[in-house]
Amino acid sequence: MTVVAKGRRSRRGAALTMAVAAVVVATASGCARDAGEVGADQDGGVVHVACGATEEWCAATTEQFTETTGVKADFVRLSSGEALARIQAGKGNAEFDVWYGGPADGYAAAGEQDLLEPYVSANAKAIPAKYKDASGLWTGVYVGALGFCSNGELLKEKGLDAPESWADLLDPKLKKDIGIAHPSTSGTAYTALWTQVQLADGDEDKALKYMRELHPNVLQYTKSGAAPAQMTARGEVAVGVIFSHDCIATQEAGFPDLEVTFPSEGTGYETGGVALVKGAKNPTSARKFIDWALTPEAQEIGPGVKAYQFPTNPDAKVSDKVVDLASIKVVDYDAAAAGAAKSALTKRFDEEVAQAPKS
Ligand code: F6P
Repeated sequence: MTVVAKGRRSRRGAALTMAVAAVVVATASGCARDAGEVGADQDGGVVHVACGATEEWCAATTEQFTETTGVKADFVRLSSGEALARIQAGKGNAEFDVWYGGPADGYAAAGEQDLLEPYVSANAKAIPAKYKDASGLWTGVYVGALGFCSNGELLKEKGLDAPESWADLLDPKLKKDIGIAHPSTSGTAYTALWTQVQLADGDEDKALKYMRELHPNVLQYTKSGAAPAQMTARGEVAVGVIFSHDCIATQEAGFPDLEVTFPSEGTGYETGGVALVKGAKNPTSARKFIDWALTPEAQEIGPGVKAYQFPTNPDAKVSDKVVDLASIKVVDYDAAAAGAAKSALTKRFDEEVAQAPKS
């Protein structure tokens, strides 16, 4: 026990009282939802996540993060284009601390708009270079391949087999029988659009021409990328253009007859990212979340909630339901180039193919 002289004791006592008061104030503010009141360099012990994975995966991930680290976490499930718009709207008064899930081109587009804070997590060392931005703008947490999800019964009625190429989707027998999301809101659909750009050697006019030809066969452009899986399962459309893992999840949810195929010309794929939002009000917790999202523990959560993307951490176990990327033909997918083109290309899609869904 330290014994202090009387005169000094009172000064130390006052200092101690002030320090305790400061801790009490900081803790009280920290408990409030808006930790921004504490000051930008402090942290409320909570992380607000804009989450682009499935609702179930977002919930399981944020819960597990809190259990592991003691840091509170909440999320809003947003499609890629919606997340980008919400993060943009929060510029200067950030609503989210972290963006987690959704194709990396969305993150590259956010980077172009100065909406992300580069962060190279120590755990990013484990992630192969092809799955991360070198400057730490985003780091990949999973990989998924675009494919076709077919309702065999409906196709049989039309005398068709499951599509094996992008060209097959243009068959007039598929009139209003295809479901795909809108590229302005959905990262899945933007991956499909950018795949056409890649297949056309970078010619955006040609890519949009293909989408215009596909248009008469599209029943509806949904807001979220995975929604056409349900439409196909329910028999509203014969084919959904979606990430193949979303078709597998729907098979498992009670529609085992759905069939997954991949286009022979080549298909697009996503690297699902995680990134720190610029001006995050809880930057310490946000960095902790990013560190954790890159661990095998975090990346092994998916299959438990029917999310079968490929983990980017080579030490994470891979479910046998995950598509073997080596077994399918994929196009070259440069997230930075796709992100840089995103705003202008989706605007052209709105104007030349179809308007984005309103709500
Ligand atoms: O359902 C999960 C998922 O397919 C992710 O793999 C992907 O990153 C995300 O959804 C894309 O969602 P959206 O197309 O709605 O932006």
